[in-house]
Amino acid sequence: MASTEFDLTKVADGQQVTLKWRGKPLFVRNRTPAEVQRAVADDSASMKDPQKDADRVKPGKAQWLVLIGSCTHLGCVPTFGGGDYGGWFCPCHGSHYDTSGRIRKGPAPLNLAVPEYEFLSDTKVKIG
Ligand code: FES
Repeated sequence: MASTEFDLTKVADGQQVTLKWRGKPLFVRNRTPAEVQRAVADDSASMKDPQKDADRVKPGKAQWLVLIGSCTHLGCVPTFGGGDYGGWFCPCHGSHYDTSGRIRKGPAPLNLAVPEYEFLSDTKVKIG
């Protein structure tokens, strides 16, 4: 399936861009230091789908979070800035994801998925 290249200079600090990729929304978020800190601080919290924040980003690029924007419960699109963990909230049945996109509360079973991607340069990623 087709991969796509994306120019990260289009995403300001603390902002997120939603692309369409393989028929699904894809979030590219430029996290603030506070978002990263909060995610790392929770690495050892008890979670349904335990994963460290560092395993969801590329080394040295912790501000960039790339996620498939499809709730792992039944596929609604979660919105950023809601919920109890400062990350995404899915309004369909109330799943709360943290600033790493990890599921923390609600019916979704898994973290928001991180697609395969790589940095082509400091400002360009290839997704897929
Ligand atoms: Fe997101 Fe059900 S689809 S909580």
